[in-house]
Formats: sequence, structure tokens, C-alpha cells
Amino acid sequence: ECMAGHLPTRLKGLDEALCGGIPFGVLTELVGPAGIGKTQFCLKLSLLASMPANCGGLDGRVIYIDVESKFRSKRLIEIGINSFPEIFLKKGMAQEMAGRILILRPTSLSEFAESLHQIKVSLLQQQVKLLIIDSMAALVLGERDCGASRQQALGWHVSFIKSLAEFSRIPVVLTNQVRSQIGDESRMYSFQAQSRSIIKDNPATYDSHLVAALGINWAHAVTIRLVLEARSGQRFIKLAKSPISPALAFPFKITSSGMVL
Ligand code: GTP
Repeated sequence: ECMAGHLPTRLKGLDEALCGGIPFGVLTELVGPAGIGKTQFCLKLSLLASMPANCGGLDGRVIYIDVESKFRSKRLIEIGINSFPEIFLKKGMAQEMAGRILILRPTSLSEFAESLHQIKVSLLQQQVKLLIIDSMAALVLGERDCGASRQQALGWHVSFIKSLAEFSRIPVVLTNQVRSQIGDESRMYSFQAQSRSIIKDNPATYDSHLVAALGINWAHAVTIRLVLEARSGQRFIKLAKSPISPALAFPFKITSSGMVL
């Protein structure tokens, strides 16, 4: 059963498995180790959301929460020119497309909360068609306070992000870094009892470090989970959680056109 509204990724098999692309109104999580390509994928999605509708885009603005200052507009334009030359080589278009992406760089959870409130207003007033949070884990792990109050704050943020997705009916994409792509059983199973069910459901995808940082509510809040991993020198994007599709994996490369299958 397909959900209403999608942002096509243009990764053919993945779009088919996702019933058209990244769904509107729910959270989609990109999980993977450092350097696997999560940010590259977010850049591509930003371009796709900002492109004109007659070129298959959503003709909208994008709010990009760039926690680790990894957004590079030069790279964005490079991906645009190589993937969609008919749009990006027109005079002034590359700048116009890049200008549709609003970058926010909160340095703490509380600053992030403030950004979320600003977003709520602009989601209504502007034509925002995609929200990206790169990375959720970095934001949470950057906090000095690690106790129960952080877990409580995090619970609140997760509910708020979910409600933003629901009420604005746009795709919300969050990235999370895991330490290793293949789980180390002994390390994972030594983790606290309440986290065990999640880890058991998804042994290769959730490391204890991430579960500890984001809390157990996190894994349940996301509707779609895409896991990026490398195996024998080949990168894969795996649909690890979906209400409509079985787990499927697609090999991908990162080229001058960004992520391609
Ligand atoms: P972390 O932020 O470290 O967790 O990693 P990430 O998963 O966000 O990785 P990112 O998206 O930054 O991807 C890094 C990979 O993308 C690199 O290993 C390169 O293979 C590739 N990459 C990054 N920039 C370029 C570029 O300008 N050209 C090409 N061809 N590849 C690039």
C-alpha cells in the first residue's frame, strides 16, 4: 500500500521499492558509517526537491540542518550540472536552485529546538518541500549532558520532528552515523536490556552507540530506514525498514553526478 506523495530519488530500483520515492509526511533515516555517502545523498535530494516540477522536481525550498558544516554549495552545483545539465547550465539557474536551500547550523539541542520553531513558521509561509537533518546523531552526541534530562529532551525533539513531518506533509530525512557497518555481536548484545529488541530486529544496522545516544524511541519514530554500507569494496544502499517493501539492497557509486546506481 503506497503512501500519498513522494520525492523520487531517481535511483530506479529504490524508487520502485519505495512506491515512488521518499514519502511525504514521515521520517526517513539514512544510517551508515563515516564517509559512506549520506551527505552526498542529502545533496542530491535537495536538488531534486528544488528543481522545477516539469523536470520531475518538487519546485520548492529546502531546509537543510547542517550540524557538522558539511554542506558544500560547490559540490551541490557540480552534482546539479552533471545530473541535470538541461536545467543547471541555463544562465543563473544553478544559483537560483542553490538559493532555494536554506542552511541552518545549530550548535546545540536547544538552538536546534529554536530552529525547529522557526521552521514551523516558514513551512507554512514558504514553499518548503524537504527538511534534512544531517546529522541527528552529531547533534545529540555533541551535548555535554548525557543523563535522563537529555533523553527527555530528545524524546520531545523526536515527537516534534515527527509532528512537523505530519502537519507539513513533506519528506523529512535525517542522517545518523554508526561506528561500523557490520555489527559486532558481543558488543551489541552486551547493551542494556531495553535496547535489545531494536538491536535484535536489526542486528547489522544499529550499533549500541547510536541507540545509546538517540534512545529507544528513536528507532520506532522513523518510518523508512535506508542503510548505506560497504561490502568487499562495493557500496550498497539497503532498504532496511519500510511498511511496504521487504529488505532490498542496491549497489551504488558516488561520481561527479553524486550518488548513482
Ligand atoms: P560522514 O559525514 O563522515 O558520516 O560521512 P557521509 O556518509 O556523510 O559521507 P559523505 O556523504 O560526505 O560522502 C563521502 C564520500 O563521498 C567520499 O568517500 C567520496 O567517495 C564521495 N565524495 C565526496 N565528495 C565528492 C566529490 O566532490 N566528488 C566525488 N566524485 N565524490 C565525492
